Amino acid sequence: MKQRTFVNPIEWRGGVVRIIDQTRLPVELKYEDCTTVSEIWRAIKKLKVRGAPLIGIAGALGFLLGMHKARSKDGSGLLKEAKRLRAYLASSRPTAVNLSWALARMQTIVEALADRQKEEVFCELKSEVERIIDEDIQMCFKMSEYGSKLIRSGDRLMTVCNAGGLATSGYGTALGVFYRAHEEKKKIKVYACETRPLLQGARLTTWELMHNGIDTTLICDNMAASVMRGRNISAIFVGADRIAANGDFANKIGTYSLAVLAAYHKIPFYCVAPFSTFDLSLPCGSRIPIEERDIREVTSLYFKKPIAPAGVDVFNPAFDITPHELVSGIITEKGVIRRPFEENIKAIYGESVKNS
Ligand code: MRU
Repeated sequence: MKQRTFVNPIEWRGGVVRIIDQTRLPVELKYEDCTTVSEIWRAIKKLKVRGAPLIGIAGALGFLLGMHKARSKDGSGLLKEAKRLRAYLASSRPTAVNLSWALARMQTIVEALADRQKEEVFCELKSEVERIIDEDIQMCFKMSEYGSKLIRSGDRLMTVCNAGGLATSGYGTALGVFYRAHEEKKKIKVYACETRPLLQGARLTTWELMHNGIDTTLICDNMAASVMRGRNISAIFVGADRIAANGDFANKIGTYSLAVLAAYHKIPFYCVAPFSTFDLSLPCGSRIPIEERDIREVTSLYFKKPIAPAGVDVFNPAFDITPHELVSGIITEKGVIRRPFEENIKAIYGESVKNS
């Protein structure tokens, strides 16, 4: 079984961070080298790199880049720089907890090596990023194994946004489940919701699925209910940006609507996410910060062509919260968590708390 698809969305290349600029897909597969921390910050903010696990990895690589360029050679100077980098990079996007989780891991290394020289600290930081990436690859692989068990040959599946190789270290969470089922020779068909306003479903998910040989059909978001009924959807799999202690979770705007529709149509609704996406310091979903983005994402297609009258009032939250009551199971690298979520999440992840 593969542990990465054909995409490698981010990597460290001897002093620069190479990313795939996802805003250009599917028209062109263009790599971009980020040479400064502010370029990484902008790449995250502008969704050149996106998806919760990948945002965490990008943050860690941005931190590594910043420490690589740090003027201080040791101790308190490096620690000061680490604190500044952590706060700055964390400010790029607020909802995906993977970002603050990865940055906290990086800062812990700097704190633990406060008496060492810069070169040694840098080597350890580089190893930590490699560990974060390796762990992500392993977690995606394990999730795909558990998730695929819930899929039978002949199933018609649905997803929203992009929770694939492009959103992780290369395999995916929700899409990883589909890849695994496909590799196991199950015959599946996937309906991808386009995901307004930035069309991650239309641009990225269909691109990825098609490249991986999956039978894919693109639908507009407002077709989901008819497709669930008319095309007999078997199950829905989505990713997550942050999961609270009671199992409520934030994911791309439109996820909550799908969960409500799935409950009405009695279709199993699964969230697929690794430990790095859990935030056990938050008791429930209403505490998850929801990013609001530039209104031009709604009023004009890619900021080019107006599709709404100038001056119209716009609300543009990038995420919504799906309450745990609507969730059939949370597929993690440690197995599928079912109701009662609060108890079972605690049993699996203990008292671990994210540093935000
Ligand atoms: O705004 P985006 O494109 O970063 O939103 C991404 C999502 O909502 C994904 O579903 C989520 O991050 C999980 S990715 C494995």
